Amino acid sequence: MYILPLRWRRLILATVVSLTSTHFVTASDEPILTKEQIKQFLLTAKVVKSEQSKKGITQTSRLTLSDGTVTHDASFQKIDEHKATLQLASGTEMNFVDSYKYNIAAYQLAELLGIDDMLPVYVERKWKGDTGSLSWWLPVKMDEVERHKQKLTAPDADAWNNQMYKVRVLDQLVYDNDPNLTNVLIGEDWKIWRIDFTRAFRLSKDLRDPKDLVRCDRQLFEKLKTLDGNELADKTKHYLTKDEVKAVMARRDKIVAQFQKLISEKGEKEVLY
Ligand SMILES: Nc1ncnc2c1ncn2[C@@H]1O[C@H](COP(=O)(O)OP(=O)(O)OP(=O)(O)O)[C@@H](O)[C@H]1O
Ligand SMILES: [Mg+2]
Repeated sequence: MYILPLRWRRLILATVVSLTSTHFVTASDEPILTKEQIKQFLLTAKVVKSEQSKKGITQTSRLTLSDGTVTHDASFQKIDEHKATLQLASGTEMNFVDSYKYNIAAYQLAELLGIDDMLPVYVERKWKGDTGSLSWWLPVKMDEVERHKQKLTAPDADAWNNQMYKVRVLDQLVYDNDPNLTNVLIGEDWKIWRIDFTRAFRLSKDLRDPKDLVRCDRQLFEKLKTLDGNELADKTKHYLTKDEVKAVMARRDKIVAQFQKLISEKGEKEVLY
């Protein structure tokens, strides 16, 4: 008997599923929705339950939403704090901002770069009188803190590193002043997500950790080179100031220059993948 290769069987199953139902529920209870359907769901589904998040310091809420057909959780972050100076363990930060708006801006930037699958979908939503960001709850197995604690490593080191290199590029681009391992989440098959950008988008035109830039996904490199400041400003107009957009573009230039330097020193194959 001829058995279809697994790849084909998966493709056929996915096609049948998408033709027969948009709300098919898999074994892991993850509804298969398109990105646009997820956005619509997050924007419009009714909040049927809420609880305070167990991790993090800014007291996010875990909400359960339902549109009558799909029921799914989401994380609500309403922080929007602005201070002239803030004393942190790392020193004094001027023009300190901690804002839900940066979660949405990061998602929109990731969309422009074609790496939005590394973040949960983030939208803006009002809940109990507060406006905040709402993100699709991810099927998380553990976070980076837990992985380090348990001394686990991904079985496919290349696949893991290739995801991490993309996270590093995004981190340099958004300049997150609170990069911590509870914001790197791991799912099935060692899929990596990056969440929580409320302390990102600082005004620095320099990179925070240029040494973190080692290798780059080819497609991402092309998207970085063609990232258009006006398009970014337009897409993020409710979430980033003009100066914040300018700083992203300045860091973009530095990231591209850094990779170009590495390519000229080591050769393209050592840097791009
Ligand atoms: N979309 C999501 N899917 C799954 N888990 C999430 C999601 N969003 C948040 N979490 C979990 O909730 C925790 C807290 O959320 P988040 O990191 O957004 O806020 P926070 O850490 O309180 O914010 P901050 O670090 O800015 O104070 C995360 O570390 C993660 O464990
Ligand atoms: Mg966090």
